Amino acid sequence: MDTTRRSFLKTAVVGTAATACGPGLRSEAVAPQAAERNAVDDPPLISVRTTVNGEPRSLEVEGHESTLTLVRERLELTGCKRGCGQGACGACTMQLDGVPVATCLLPVTALEGRSLVTVEGLSVAQPSLHPIQRAFLAEDALQCGFCTPGFVVEAVAFYERWRADNGERAPSREQVAEALSGHLCRCGAYAAIYRAVIAACEGRHEAGPDHGPRHDGRAKVTGEARYTVDLRRPGMLVAKVRRSTVAHGTLGALHWSEAAGLPGVHGFVEMTPVGRKVLYRGQPLVAVAARDEASARAALEAVLVGIEALEPVLDIDSALVTGSPKVYRGEPRRRAANAFEGPLLPESWRGNLRGPFSLFSRRSGAARRRLKDAAEAGDSPVVRASFETAVQLHSCLEPHAVLAEWLADDQLRVYASTQGVRHLAEDLAQRFGLRRDKVEVIADYVGGGFGSKTQVAPEMVAAIELARICGRPVKLVLDRREELTVGGLRPSVRMRAAIADDGGEQPALQFESRSDAGTAVGSATTALVRIHQPLADQDLADWDVTTNGPPGCPFRAPGGPPAYFALEQVVDELALRRGVDAVTLRRGWNENPNRTRIYDWADGVDLWRDRPPAGSDRGRFRRGVGLATASWFYFAEPRVRVQVEAGPEGIAVSTACQDIGNGSRSVLADAVAEVFGIDAASIDVAIGSSRGVHGPLSAGSRTATSLGPAAIAAAEELRAELVELASSRLRLREARAVDGGVAHRDGQLSWAEVLEVAPQLSATGKRGRDKGGFFLPPFGGLATGRYLSCAGQVSEVEVDTRLGRVRVLQTRAAFCVGRVYSPVLARSQAEGGMVQGISFALYEERRRDPRDGGLLSGGLEDYRIAGMADVGSIEVEFLPGGFETVRGGGVGLGEVCTLTPAATLANAVRHATGWRPDKTPLRPDRVLEGLAEVGA
Ligand code: FES
Ligand code: FES
Repeated sequence: MDTTRRSFLKTAVVGTAATACGPGLRSEAVAPQAAERNAVDDPPLISVRTTVNGEPRSLEVEGHESTLTLVRERLELTGCKRGCGQGACGACTMQLDGVPVATCLLPVTALEGRSLVTVEGLSVAQPSLHPIQRAFLAEDALQCGFCTPGFVVEAVAFYERWRADNGERAPSREQVAEALSGHLCRCGAYAAIYRAVIAACEGRHEAGPDHGPRHDGRAKVTGEARYTVDLRRPGMLVAKVRRSTVAHGTLGALHWSEAAGLPGVHGFVEMTPVGRKVLYRGQPLVAVAARDEASARAALEAVLVGIEALEPVLDIDSALVTGSPKVYRGEPRRRAANAFEGPLLPESWRGNLRGPFSLFSRRSGAARRRLKDAAEAGDSPVVRASFETAVQLHSCLEPHAVLAEWLADDQLRVYASTQGVRHLAEDLAQRFGLRRDKVEVIADYVGGGFGSKTQVAPEMVAAIELARICGRPVKLVLDRREELTVGGLRPSVRMRAAIADDGGEQPALQFESRSDAGTAVGSATTALVRIHQPLADQDLADWDVTTNGPPGCPFRAPGGPPAYFALEQVVDELALRRGVDAVTLRRGWNENPNRTRIYDWADGVDLWRDRPPAGSDRGRFRRGVGLATASWFYFAEPRVRVQVEAGPEGIAVSTACQDIGNGSRSVLADAVAEVFGIDAASIDVAIGSSRGVHGPLSAGSRTATSLGPAAIAAAEELRAELVELASSRLRLREARAVDGGVAHRDGQLSWAEVLEVAPQLSATGKRGRDKGGFFLPPFGGLATGRYLSCAGQVSEVEVDTRLGRVRVLQTRAAFCVGRVYSPVLARSQAEGGMVQGISFALYEERRRDPRDGGLLSGGLEDYRIAGMADVGSIEVEFLPGGFETVRGGGVGLGEVCTLTPAATLANAVRHATGWRPDKTPLRPDRVLEGLAEVGA
């Protein structure tokens, strides 16, 4: 089998490519009709006099415009963002006469005679940054930074009110939560936001540095950071996509000749060819490029679309009924998109059922026999249970976005919200038949990805093709509804788990799962069961069930949260039935030293150790404590390189990677700074372009462990060269590197002094192999490491037995990942992973109309993600050691930190009430039903 990364990705994008425009599909540039304002159809312009960031403005506006559109597109102040466009996320917050408002809902006419302050205007009256901005930097209260301007604007208003009324008294968490309750952070930076706002109100950031541990933090708290959605190019057109409103059918007609005659329309590109199956509601059919969004939308409405509808299968049950319509009948299965992080292997199919996956499934008669015998004997505990987890949407706050421009017939530049600039450039070069050096992908700032921005999306191909045929730059941004429809999802999973402790040294374990990733395949959960209980007698099987839904794709720790939700609950139940401590039970089955570290940690957590007996509370509000543990893989890209340069201008580090909020810039700067013993803020970091040396994808917990060692190797080489140079040019005796410079027999020179006499020098470091190699050799450039990262979590919840609400009060968590490259950022990332896990457990559920697959949760007010007040206090620790033979000594953290929350909260609910949750999210109606079942 050809196992190059290219062939893997080719497979990975086939499903999406099946509905993408490209060679062989129709595209057409049209002569645009003039699109001047029309006195009859267009609303009259209105004069508005206002003040923006202290500057008087006199503007001619259209009455229907929102303030956000005016500020971002006409005033080109792009700091405040459009996250939802519906008043639900707070990313667009500005101050109007000192009061924070969601400007996506604020008509421009409301600005008349009033004063507007955007995030860019906050520092105008300050000598430097506002204390809130400094506090956000110091506490690292941000990750991708897309929500940050909105939070900062709101927090500044709160700070001013609070300080005027209370001086330096600290506000409570509840008061901060109430003030910021209109804001959402998909990265889950809430724990640090609490710390920042409280510290600022206490007066701890009235002065101090204008930078923090996050290298690009200042740009994010000031609104200077420019994301793909913020970019414009001269002559740029706007592209929009017409999508199927039918869940299953055949595209019979697609006519755009009438639409082509509408004003401002420049070109069309077919995304699904006539005659091809329509597999899901939301499938892209045709894209248009026009002078503005309104013209593009009008053109798409005028396109004639004919779809011959077929009966859809919309859920696992209907997909598995004998004789149900087959999703891939008449459509090659090889077109199925890949929901797996690795390559898709051939598997067997029965109707809509695919599997069991050969890679992870392990059929064991012994395990089944032990479970049966134990159940029949009746004298040893056997736990059998079924679980189900809902579809979770990635819902990145920055939607998928691309701006494509052709610099010449054979030269392409693409600005993209992507998790892999280099990987994307390679794939686009191949797809458009260009030389690799003729394609540049740029992503200076990325507003989150979580796995959904690793592939070549059909919309990206459409924008590039439109830019080619129209001869102008084209920008395409998904709106929030599109983002929640096709922007990526974690499949829903049904699991059956059984465990028996029949006196053997290890338990017998059975685990089966069926995942619904819509039209995608490759979902897997049993791999986690294998690695977390490797010594058990295991009978494991994974299946995909294809349905007529948008394709899933990898989502932070693919398969992990569902798998541990089931596995760690049956283990917990077994401990309860046996009457033993749940940590002691797990410890007895374990030989992995990293898991042992987690169990040792758990034994020392007072919240766990001192928990009251299960079911102690008997009132309306019942508290309980739960625990769960997890194991995860670590990955690395051994071919990753980092370049470090030094010269009179200072030290600079670069590579072809991106920062999606995971802190790539800081990892690079911190690693180099540590070698030289200097302040990381003094190092220039250049990433975000595919032109750099071979950088990693930001996915699969691989980034820090790939970048860190390469940066250290390059910095060490350069340091040695500088010492040699200083010794020869400056005639230093016994010169040697020390923190901050070069020590010699007669004193010490700073690096700045050495660099003054140095020519421009450069060194490139490579990540390379771990000592002792990898568990799996590099496959498509990605190696699987020999060790497991591990997590442990203890949480306390309160269950409202009257309303069914589950409230998280406090969480303690520990992670075993070895060396932590940028500790403050690692804490933020770990807290964010916990928040996403809590959100998965309690709130997130994509809802569709069971009749036709229409999305019912198409906005952030309907698709609920956790907010400030929903997550309780969170404390995380990193346990040292465990990865001594890994190059650099540390592994990735991004995924292991989101594995345990669902299981932990479910175990805590069981401890509080006696009822064991079996479905996510733990909705109030489900909780009430469950409590009624157990008579609680
Ligand atoms: Fe205005 Fe979300 S963009 S509230
Ligand atoms: Fe809040 Fe990313 S930092 S959405």
